[in-house]
Amino acid sequence: MPSPTSNPPNDGHERRAAQVQAMFGSIAHRYDLLNSLMSVCMHHRWRAALVRGLRLRPGMRVLDVCAGTGDVAFAAGRSEPGLQAVVGCDFCIDMLEIATAKQAAHSCAVTWVAADALALPFRSATFDACAVAFGIRNVIRPADGFAEMARVTRPGGVVGCLEFGTPRGRFAAALVRMYENMALPALGGLLSRRAAYTYLPESIGRFSSREDVMEMMRASGLAEVRVTDLALGAVNLFTGVRR
Ligand SMILES: C[S@@+](CC[C@H](N)C(=O)[O-])C[C@H]1O[C@@H](n2cnc3c(N)ncnc32)[C@H](O)[C@@H]1O
Repeated sequence: MPSPTSNPPNDGHERRAAQVQAMFGSIAHRYDLLNSLMSVCMHHRWRAALVRGLRLRPGMRVLDVCAGTGDVAFAAGRSEPGLQAVVGCDFCIDMLEIATAKQAAHSCAVTWVAADALALPFRSATFDACAVAFGIRNVIRPADGFAEMARVTRPGGVVGCLEFGTPRGRFAAALVRMYENMALPALGGLLSRRAAYTYLPESIGRFSSREDVMEMMRASGLAEVRVTDLALGAVNLFTGVRR
């Protein structure tokens, strides 16, 4: 597997990116199991909603950024068997190795590429659709991550993003915060590395609001930017169309 490309500005990016890579590397073997347990298997539905939002048609080329263990790429291939190409990229080799190992159980062939979301190794307008699920929050400069996704998507193509968010209602927000801050680290600590699952609520808390994400998407060259709340708003689905 090729090494991740990296030529972003040297503003501490490499050190912080290395920490994120190492963290995901340390939980890669338990990632799918914990995803299912922590989301009570809802994560499949959320990814299916993301894939529907991409409006895939036969002959299209699709990119899954921050692909991790590959479930968005596989869901895309399942939903539209006539795709011309499905590419999944991530900068954590351990996650991509799990994705590669899962390939045999899926009918669609995915090309896995080790790459940084901030320096995607593709020419502009290569893809008809581009997705990122639960990844943009971890990218050191998310606005630049969206700009890269928009760059590699052709005009008229859809960029879709699934990310954790904060429910609009106060009661639901308090309930979700309690779950994220208490139950997730406890479950993560039982089955994997607790530190990685304390990072999860921290990174969700630090991440931008719905409005800020939509603004980042518009600024990156996307039009018709929309957000849909899933799971009471604890998960947000964003879509935009490349201008
Ligand atoms: C929470 S996982 C999500 C994986 C997958 N998309 C899913 O839906 O399960 C986040 C992934 O983003 C990747 N990631 C974070 N920052 C990245 C970057 N700058 N470039 C490429 N991958 C990155 C991590 O390695 C990790 O695999």
